[in-house]
Amino acid sequence: MAGTEMSNDHVVFFDTTLRDGEQSPGCSMTTQEKLTMAHALEDLGVDIIEAGFAMASEGDFAAIATITQAIRKPRIASLARAKAEDIEMAARALQFADRARIHVFLASSDLHLEFKLKMSRAEALEQCGESVRLARSLADDVEFSPEDATRSDRDFLVEIVRVAVEAGATTINMPDTVGYVTPEEYGAMFSEVRERVPAIDEKGVVLSAHCHDDLGLAVANSLAAIQAGARQVECTINGIGERAGNAALEEIAAALYVRGDYFGLTTSIKLDKLYPTSEVLGQLITFKPSPNKAVVGANAFAHESGIHQHGMLANPLCYEIMTPQLVGVAKTHLVLGKHSGRAALRHRLEQLGFTVSREELQQMYYRFVALADRKKNIYDQDLVGLLPDNIRERRSEPVSELD
Ligand code: KIV
Ligand code: ZN
Repeated sequence: MAGTEMSNDHVVFFDTTLRDGEQSPGCSMTTQEKLTMAHALEDLGVDIIEAGFAMASEGDFAAIATITQAIRKPRIASLARAKAEDIEMAARALQFADRARIHVFLASSDLHLEFKLKMSRAEALEQCGESVRLARSLADDVEFSPEDATRSDRDFLVEIVRVAVEAGATTINMPDTVGYVTPEEYGAMFSEVRERVPAIDEKGVVLSAHCHDDLGLAVANSLAAIQAGARQVECTINGIGERAGNAALEEIAAALYVRGDYFGLTTSIKLDKLYPTSEVLGQLITFKPSPNKAVVGANAFAHESGIHQHGMLANPLCYEIMTPQLVGVAKTHLVLGKHSGRAALRHRLEQLGFTVSREELQQMYYRFVALADRKKNIYDQDLVGLLPDNIRERRSEPVSELD
């Protein structure tokens, strides 16, 4: 397959944290920070790192050039508008890469063509063909993205994809640039384009999904495209990106693994590096994922309600579809709060070295609930403070330190 790492049951992960992710508020990174992130992405096992947009700034150019010299396993990509100067600049930034990709994009929706580019459809087709041919003369791996593909006239989308494939594009990415479509529509678009452009399969061109999260559908849409034959997915760590963000890499990787029975596809992602990679990014930019973020949020493996905690203590499968360790999180947290039950309270007291009788637990429980009603977070010190002296004096070897 021209210039890619794909087999038919393998999904290529194209990480764009350093390009689409970085171009959102609070996420800009220095070259050194981008390099730190690129090392984390290499350890995570992503197939392709989009390291920046070479023409956008000197900083982006420098970051791409630096990353190509330090990172060996993933292919390195630079974004370029469908313009000769952009494409040549991308090629220069990538010149030291072992394996490089030039990613050319050109809007294909009438809205973008008319208002943003002031270009006719015919001009866009010509520019697409010329740009992809130029890029192919400079790199053997060229991706073409018809920007705003999901709001493009379908016949025109098919036409521009055909032109890009004929000009030598090795990957065709069809972005949902504004996060507009539903999973059914996005999947159907991939099936239709693939059927109407037979050269995609004849030449082994890889189809790629690139989704934004404006309606909270980015991951669902990406998975729908994969179901319809996309074998590359573009995503970012923690789902950072323009506006509401891009599809979150960790969610797609976890879904493909946990629901392997349904998807039957492989990836090169080392799942136990998901949380550590999310942590690296959280330290480099100005915010961390929200606590309820799937897979990597602080509450992704935390349980407060009594019924859930009781179930978790009996068998974690009751309320967890994957172990925290699978994605690199140390352990499940049974958080004590006003919804917790006696089982979790006893469990925590035992971890802290306090064994209590049924009656003692009952009394402790009343005091604990009264405190939890007044206080949002209950710490171990609060629990110890609630214990009567006779229990406190009986403390045995704790299995867990006070938090
Ligand atoms: O969202 C988008 O359309 C993009 C392209 C440049 C691929 O980021
Ligand atoms: Zn994008």
